[in-house]
Amino acid sequence: MLLAFADESPLAHALAREMDCELAFVETHHFPDGEIKLRLPPALPPRVVMLRGLQQPNDRLVQLMLAGRTARELGARHLTLASPYLAYMRQDMAFQPGEAVSQRIVVGFLGSLFDRVITIDPHLHRIASLDEVMPGSRGVALTAAPLLGAWIASQWPADALPLLVGPDEEAEQWVRAAGERTGLQGLVCRKTRRGDRDVTVELPAQDITGRDVVIIDDVASTGHTIVQAAAALRERGVASIDVAVVHALFGGDAIERLMQAGVRRVWSTDAVPHSSNVVTVAPLLARAIADCD
Ligand code: R5P
Repeated sequence: MLLAFADESPLAHALAREMDCELAFVETHHFPDGEIKLRLPPALPPRVVMLRGLQQPNDRLVQLMLAGRTARELGARHLTLASPYLAYMRQDMAFQPGEAVSQRIVVGFLGSLFDRVITIDPHLHRIASLDEVMPGSRGVALTAAPLLGAWIASQWPADALPLLVGPDEEAEQWVRAAGERTGLQGLVCRKTRRGDRDVTVELPAQDITGRDVVIIDDVASTGHTIVQAAAALRERGVASIDVAVVHALFGGDAIERLMQAGVRRVWSTDAVPHSSNVVTVAPLLARAIADCD
């Protein structure tokens, strides 16, 4: 059985179709003081997959704590979490003495609730794989960059493909993966972050005048990284700027600021529900779930 939440219903239906399994929804109620009440189907089969992305993570971590423990009480013996977006991955070390290493704590918490955690493009920077924080091959990290690469390539004639631009060094992996089967070429910028909304992006010295470019990244949140990358690209005289991200968090007026910065189109996967979704991750997740069985 696939158990999901109503606000992720389109991906839940697509995933249940791919998995060819029963789909049920967890009913949620928010009390006036912020507490959450959940109701699951009263009898669960032994194998259950729970779909819950961790955008707006704090409430959802509590939901997972309540739903995970309740699922066990209701009969789930093998419980997998499919979390297309895993939050708290960027705080992977104590940058200042005394800081919580959120990545280790959150992944450890999920590992205490679920037998397996499947996710897409988690922000793993200083560690090579989820195994380092969730030992025993219980964490599965997929990548949707090849899907984005295929989408991007399909938007241009084969002899006039755009140039991929990774806005920081960490995006090199997504540029490479998106280019592997598509022939898309790319370059990677250098980013300096001084605060949540204070970043600068420097392009490498390369003539890109007149090129169509697509900025590709794992996640866009405030949009500042992309806005700065777009500003640097405009100064170099590119012909057009489009954006492709796996996780479209896009808080506040991020999309408007992207458009003001000269971005033409924004594309994303449905790992996070957003109006920019054009590529579904349902088959990718379904294959990984089947491989774990
Ligand atoms: C961090 O390195 C990520 O890959 C993204 O570039 C970053 O999280 C984007 O954040 P924002 O949209 O707030 O600049």
